[in-house]
Amino acid sequence: MTSASSSTAHGHQKKTGSKRTGPTKTGPTKTGPTKTGPHGSDSTTQDDAFIRIRHVDKFFGSFQALDDVSLDIRLGQKIVICGPSGSGKSTAIRCINRLEAHDAGEIAIDGVRIDDSAAARRVLRNNVGMVFQQFNLFPHLSILDNLTLGPVRARGMAPAQARSLAEYYLERVRIPEQIDKFPGQLSGGQQQRVAIARALCMEPKIMLFDEPTSALDPEMIAEVLEVIEELAGSGMTMICVTHEMGFAGHVADQMVFMDHGRIVEMAPPKQFFSAPESERCQTFLRQILRH
Ligand SMILES: Nc1ncnc2c1ncn2[C@@H]1O[C@H](COP(=O)(O)OP(=O)(O)OP(=O)(O)O)[C@@H](O)[C@H]1O
Ligand SMILES: [Mg+2]
Repeated sequence: MTSASSSTAHGHQKKTGSKRTGPTKTGPTKTGPTKTGPHGSDSTTQDDAFIRIRHVDKFFGSFQALDDVSLDIRLGQKIVICGPSGSGKSTAIRCINRLEAHDAGEIAIDGVRIDDSAAARRVLRNNVGMVFQQFNLFPHLSILDNLTLGPVRARGMAPAQARSLAEYYLERVRIPEQIDKFPGQLSGGQQQRVAIARALCMEPKIMLFDEPTSALDPEMIAEVLEVIEELAGSGMTMICVTHEMGFAGHVADQMVFMDHGRIVEMAPPKQFFSAPESERCQTFLRQILRH
């Protein structure tokens, strides 16, 4: 069913000349002119999708959590997924990152099929960062150690270099002063910003966010959304599951609405919010925008 590619609304490029110490590869490097039609690029190999999701199904026992999900994500794109509880949003994100294995269809990242192979693990490790609702920091490690663990262990980076990378990204999420604390000593908003910095320390090309603010007290939501918005502005490719529709309107170049495991609607935010096509999406938006 829904197989879509979208136009890039704005051509954000790499962040510019900010002081940074690590290797630079965060921004989009191959955003190009849009050439995909309304039905995606199923038939050609020339498309510029960085992530291709094609006809993906996912079952938990006999329950179908994803039903024929297709989606293209090009570098530089920002996709926001919304939909009712249980509609498959987290499952979709988790299948991209191989935290769940899909049962049918295909997911490919940078041309590499996502399965249990070493090649898939490598492409995920090198390209995809994820931030969860529950920050998932290691409570027994300092913020610095939480941030450097991945680069040192998975990348073989020298500790001093990993430290400067950690300092750089903590600066970017605006909490450089927290580097020697432990997660339990930080507020929820600060912990989530650490989680974002930790993902960024692996220098991903795409960030996956699964309701990054829904476990936060209201006064901390804005600080985390601001960091994500800034990241989006710097050119980071992202897929974000969120019900923060104001944020979505600013950041997304494509809104995706899921229901019962399917992508029901997909449109640029302006169109999505002003003229949702399906009844289910209209009802959902009415409910969510009422708050
Ligand atoms: N590990 C699992 N085992 C069995 N069922 C699961 C599992 N994970 C998810 N499901 C089911 O799959 C469906 C989709 O779940 P998913 O977590 O993707 O929904 P969601 O859209 O993220 O919902 P929410 O907005 O509540 O986070 C739900 O019905 C859920 O109960
Ligand atoms: Mg979820």
